[in-house]
Amino acid sequence: MNVVLLSPGFPLDVSSFTRALARTGARVIGIGDQPVGALPAMVRDHLVHYEHVPLADTAAVLAALRGLARHVRIDQVECLWEPYVVLAATIREHLDLPGMGVEEATWFRDKEVMKRVLDAAGVRTPRHAGATTVAEVWEAAEQVGYPLIVKPVAGAGSADTYRVDTPARLAEVQQMIQHVPRVSVEEFVEGEEFTYDTVCGDGEVLFENVSWYQPRPLEQRSHEWVSPMTIALRDKDDPGLAGGLDMGRRVLTALGFTSGFTHMEWYRTADGEVVFGEIGARPPGARTVDVMNYATDGDLFDTWALAVTTGQAPPLTHRFNAASLFKRAQGSGRITRVEGLERLLREEGEHVCVVDLLPVGTPRRDWRATLLSDGMVIARHPELPELMRVLGRFATELEMFAE
Ligand SMILES: Nc1ncnc2c1ncn2[C@@H]1O[C@H](COP(=O)(O)OP(=O)(O)OP(=O)(O)O)[C@@H](O)[C@H]1O
Ligand SMILES: [Mg+2]
Repeated sequence: MNVVLLSPGFPLDVSSFTRALARTGARVIGIGDQPVGALPAMVRDHLVHYEHVPLADTAAVLAALRGLARHVRIDQVECLWEPYVVLAATIREHLDLPGMGVEEATWFRDKEVMKRVLDAAGVRTPRHAGATTVAEVWEAAEQVGYPLIVKPVAGAGSADTYRVDTPARLAEVQQMIQHVPRVSVEEFVEGEEFTYDTVCGDGEVLFENVSWYQPRPLEQRSHEWVSPMTIALRDKDDPGLAGGLDMGRRVLTALGFTSGFTHMEWYRTADGEVVFGEIGARPPGARTVDVMNYATDGDLFDTWALAVTTGQAPPLTHRFNAASLFKRAQGSGRITRVEGLERLLREEGEHVCVVDLLPVGTPRRDWRATLLSDGMVIARHPELPELMRVLGRFATELEMFAE
């Protein structure tokens, strides 16, 4: 079986998917923006062929694959990176291959079309309206009401996303979003935020995960002093999660998703109402796949690879609550010192799976641009209150400094 994988070495965790795919016995053909020399060695070792083509140039990608298809039979096209989910579908249609087509792929990329399809299926989405001009944004705000959220229809990482409480603030935000071609204006949903992540094969959900964000992602991205956490929850029978799990399954059905990774976000209000947030046809980012592996003692890279090539995968059970916690250094420039780590590892080390902090001497990362920030810790515990206690200690007692 010959599988074309878009961008096999970027973002970094795609490398592990590339290796897992090759280990199923599939012959993996990579195509991507990275020059072959820039591919991680692990990726190079698991590709039978690589085409270096700018992925933003659809015509060039299709031409390269047409050329390739004259020499080898291409059976399948996979993509794990958000910006090229529609490109993968375009290739499938062009080469007449099975799998998600362009229309369905667009439902996962365009937040207005996505919500329209889900509204028609009876899923509770935030009140919403799309807008391309300043006048349309005012009109959308009128329809939706305040407080509201303005965000790009094809956004990621909370970029250009604003909560707006008053018309005066909307006037300011209009200035800041001038460069965004199309925005979604939504009712602001007050509540807690969760994910619903799956691996599907042959139309069945083979793996499910619910993560809890602490605090809400918009808060994570607004306050530098926060140590953001993503907590993969062990107990999926918790009655508080039932509505989200049910919504997640209905969303996948409504969107006709059959094979691969999905990452959905949903809100739960104080009175227990469940509201759809967004969904991507890709794994969650910021090392959440590793977190889910620590939660299950499984290997979701393998699970995905088996799911997309055979339609099946051995079941996984959440044995732990597992979480990532991201650190931001105090000060700017280069990391100068880290405090508290030895003590925390001495006292809580048995619960810690990963410590991956920027080494002293390296420049700080831009915490607004990447959730990875200046470093991260993964910890796990079967009991949620215990895990929250450990995470709380890492949030306050582990300190990084920069100058
Ligand atoms: N209607 C809404 N009500 C309340 N908060 C919202 C709403 N829409 C977006 N947000 C906040 O903004 C964040 C980013 O929005 P969204 O998830 O739609 O965009 P994104 O940029 O694709 O996110 P990601 O960081 O997952 O890539 C959400 O996680 C949430 O905290
Ligand atoms: Mg999001």
